[in-house]
Amino acid sequence: MKLTLKIWRQDNANSKGKMQTYSIEGIEGDMSFLEMLDVLNEGLINKGETPVEFDHDCREGICGSCSLQINGEPHGPDRMVTTCQLHMRSFKDGDTIVIEPFRAKAFPVIKDLIVDRSAFDRIQQSGGYVSVNTSGNTLDANAIPINKQDADSAFAAAACIGCGACVAACKNASAMLFTSAKVSQYALLPQGQVEATERVENMVRQMDLEGFGNCTNTGACEIECPKGISLENIARLNREFLSANIKG
Ligand code: SF4
Ligand code: FES
Repeated sequence: MKLTLKIWRQDNANSKGKMQTYSIEGIEGDMSFLEMLDVLNEGLINKGETPVEFDHDCREGICGSCSLQINGEPHGPDRMVTTCQLHMRSFKDGDTIVIEPFRAKAFPVIKDLIVDRSAFDRIQQSGGYVSVNTSGNTLDANAIPINKQDADSAFAAAACIGCGACVAACKNASAMLFTSAKVSQYALLPQGQVEATERVENMVRQMDLEGFGNCTNTGACEIECPKGISLENIARLNREFLSANIKG
């Protein structure tokens, strides 16, 4: 395939960025999107030019590092895949592909396509833990009966990889889907009850402090989420938050 790439280039958080156009040839359908960018960067390096910076680590859809806005969609045109799992067979010869960083006030650009998502780390640190004693005298997990539906829902919420696509997809740059997944994975389990009240209050407070917008129930986050995190988690977060406020 021969492709035209329009890529956001920006030297650092304080510089003004701009789109730059590149032509690339010899791209195979079974290459991943990141492998296509590797080919581009090898060519740039060989010409003595600065390669395009982009985030990646596992390249297996697990770590949540890869974060590209591709033709206006976080993680590109396919559903339930991260950018590293997106294959070039989803595009055709002659296509123009627009590649930008995830756009949100709370995700400032570090360089080119890399954004700073440490706001998510701070939300997680504010409440994403349990104080269950793990020093050798804990109960075997299987000894605590948990309703199958709750266990399944907690497991599904825990699938969130913190990629930030939900924020990038949202017209308000809301982090509600991410935060609700982190709250839900504990709220549904007995081990999560100890800090339940302070967890939801602290995580929502931190989310607001970071500058994320409010949820207006558009649902774009659920559609673009590569891990299928459901909007039901946002409803659960709202119930948990209301109940925490009533308890005072
Ligand atoms: S909820 Fe989905 S889109 Fe948002 S951070 Fe988690 S995995 Fe990524
Ligand atoms: S590089 Fe780890 S999820 Fe894409």
